[in-house]
Amino acid sequence: MVTMLWVLCILQCMFHMPVAGGCNVEERIALMRIRSSLLEANSEVPASWGQSGDCCSWERVRCNNSKRVSDLNLYCQATVDAEGCSNWNLSLTIFSWFHELQLLDLSSNFACFQDFDGLQGVTKLRYLDLSDNSLTGNNIFESLGKLPSLEVINIHSSSMSGALQDSAFRNLKKLRKLHLGSNQLNGSIPPSLFELARLEYLDLSEFKKKGHIPITLSSNLSSSLQTLKLSANNLNGTFDFFWLRNCTMLKNIDLSRNADLAIDVKFWGYVPKFQLRKLMLSGCNLDTSIIAGPNFLGTQLHLQILDLSNNNLAGSLPDWIFRNEASLVYLDLANNSLVGSLNLMWQRQSNLQMVNISKNRFVGQLPTNISSVFPNLTVLDASYCCISRDLQPSLCNISRLAYMDLSNNKLTGEVPPGLFTNCSELKILKLSNNNLGGTILSGVRNLSFISAIYLASNNFEGALPNYLSGHLEIMDLHDNKLSGELDVYSGIFLHCKF
Ligand SMILES: *[C@@H]1O[C@H](CO)[C@@H](O)[C@H](O)[C@H]1NC(C)=O
Ligand SMILES: *[C@@H]1O[C@H](CO)[C@@H](O)[C@H](O)[C@H]1NC(C)=O
Ligand SMILES: *[C@@H]1O[C@H](CO)[C@@H](O)[C@H](O)[C@H]1NC(C)=O
Ligand SMILES: *[C@@H]1O[C@H](CO)[C@@H](O)[C@H](O)[C@H]1NC(C)=O
Ligand SMILES: *[C@@H]1O[C@H](CO)[C@@H](O)[C@H](O)[C@H]1NC(C)=O
Ligand SMILES: *[C@@H]1O[C@H](CO)[C@@H](O)[C@H](O)[C@H]1NC(C)=O
Ligand SMILES: *[C@@H]1O[C@H](CO)[C@@H](O)[C@H](O)[C@H]1NC(C)=O
Ligand SMILES: *[C@@H]1O[C@H](CO)[C@@H](O)[C@H](O)[C@H]1NC(C)=O
Ligand SMILES: *[C@@H]1O[C@H](CO)[C@@H](O)[C@H](O)[C@H]1NC(C)=O
Ligand SMILES: *[C@@H]1O[C@H](CO)[C@@H](O)[C@H](O)[C@H]1NC(C)=O
Ligand SMILES: *[C@@H]1O[C@H](CO)[C@@H](O)[C@H](O)[C@H]1NC(C)=O
Ligand SMILES: *[C@@H]1O[C@H](CO)[C@@H](O)[C@H](O)[C@H]1NC(C)=O
Repeated sequence: MVTMLWVLCILQCMFHMPVAGGCNVEERIALMRIRSSLLEANSEVPASWGQSGDCCSWERVRCNNSKRVSDLNLYCQATVDAEGCSNWNLSLTIFSWFHELQLLDLSSNFACFQDFDGLQGVTKLRYLDLSDNSLTGNNIFESLGKLPSLEVINIHSSSMSGALQDSAFRNLKKLRKLHLGSNQLNGSIPPSLFELARLEYLDLSEFKKKGHIPITLSSNLSSSLQTLKLSANNLNGTFDFFWLRNCTMLKNIDLSRNADLAIDVKFWGYVPKFQLRKLMLSGCNLDTSIIAGPNFLGTQLHLQILDLSNNNLAGSLPDWIFRNEASLVYLDLANNSLVGSLNLMWQRQSNLQMVNISKNRFVGQLPTNISSVFPNLTVLDASYCCISRDLQPSLCNISRLAYMDLSNNKLTGEVPPGLFTNCSELKILKLSNNNLGGTILSGVRNLSFISAIYLASNNFEGALPNYLSGHLEIMDLHDNKLSGELDVYSGIFLHCKF
């Protein structure tokens, strides 16, 4: 290829082709090579490439003050086939011609990239995005470890396998963001990651990583750390939130789905220096004092997303969750062993949009003022939850409610007709396995946008109305006391069980 570049270069000089505005010749030729590789893969090419001599004016290219290419934005460029793949097969060696390159974005091309060593020439690279491609073959971090200017590396969902070498990160002293989620990397988490003084964002989720999280009481963690995502690995050992006590910028933590990871939340009277926005601790070996206290969560006044589901937590609803009600929008406490009254939940108006308290052993009933408690609710799952008494008509006043599952409870009485007709956003309504009764869909003619209604195993009586307008696709009515010509409906609904 070197020979070819020089031949083209000589041709350019011989024929006095314009080097309009002085775009670098080698860089222009390399861009045209990239263009050809796209054509070979039957992909679209950026329309302006090759149109003028000045490659600095081409789309997706930016140059520095000296007319050297500094940014290449080639995300979503390759044409993707029906299987979600492109045939773009590019050797990364081509980028070694760009000596001043600082930003290289090749994300979402679903392409096959090779020759990672080729990147070693791009010594000024600060931002590299190779996410959503295929990077099989030898370890790219051996090459990236030799690029100390790197600040942001995104190689999310790119079929990488093998282990991450600790040595690869020792050199990357400027690294701020590392996105490596959803690959097939295995081995353990490199301790050197937690020695990077500028680290802000670390995503190593959905790996096959094993072993412990290499943070200890004396770790000198980056004071800029904001996000730590280590979910869905096979991590074990202990993770103690106290170790993070000095991380003033910390906002998002996700350690979910690490069943053997013991998580400690005691703070020994200290107040952490962080205010979290998002805390996901589903399916871990979570310290039960997270519910019974004392723990640091009571100090978190801006929490928006809290997921403590699938943890075997016992005890009653903790008051700190609702004391800071103004900020919480997403609350998942499902599949624990929580007991007692739900009254704490209804005390104050909140901005909760998603509530999942299913599979617990609470006792209680829905409050008559539920629409003023949760005016912005869109998803409510309180199935398998021991909720008794009536369905409140004010549920119909929660204007954004889209999904409601109150199945497998002890509800009695009738279904307020407004639920079928007045909830303009409601798509899925699940009320099976209760003691609800009355005439089925009594007085209802025009359904709102509801597409699935589950009313099985209740005590509904009578016949369905002769005519129902709407968008219904699924209606499950089996195990009720219905009469009349139900077969008429089986042709109307896509899926219908009586
Ligand atoms: C642009 O590239 C030139 C040529 O290598 C280099 O000398 C210069 O420092 C770069 N300019 C900027 C603003 O980065
Ligand atoms: C990509 O190109 C390389 C080198 O030309 C070749 O060895 C490899 O098989 C190609 N891969 C695919 C998926 O076409
Ligand atoms: C990690 O993955 C590589 C390649 O997929 C495999 O050869 C190796 O045995 C795996 N190592 C462990 C510890 O699972
Ligand atoms: C901790 O990190 C800071 C910032 O990088 C550094 O200034 C300090 O010397 C380090 N302290 C220790 C004990 O390593
Ligand atoms: C944690 O997992 C690693 C790797 O699988 C294993 O070697 C180690 O013994 C485990 N530690 C504990 C405390 O279970
Ligand atoms: C945390 O900060 C306190 C003082 O604010 C300091 O004494 C302590 O050494 C710091 N700990 C870590 C792990 O940085
Ligand atoms: C419920 O949580 C337990 C752990 O406490 C877990 O084993 C189980 O798979 C979870 N069930 C569901 C449906 O997620
Ligand atoms: C609520 O949590 C349970 C248990 O984890 C889960 O099976 C269910 O899908 C969740 N509901 C919603 C609406 O996400
Ligand atoms: C809802 O009603 C209960 C019981 O009457 C009351 O304690 C609570 O403050 C009310 N909540 C709101 C948000 O109005
Ligand atoms: C509900 O959402 C609206 C707009 O999205 C917002 O203005 C309002 O404050 C929210 N209600 C509560 C109780 O937070
Ligand atoms: C629903 O809201 C309207 C006005 O916003 C109010 O008049 C009505 O009483 C409410 N209905 C229920 C059942 O809460
Ligand atoms: C549905 O809403 C309309 C308009 O707000 C109201 O007049 C009607 O009574 C409601 N119907 C039911 C069944 O709640």
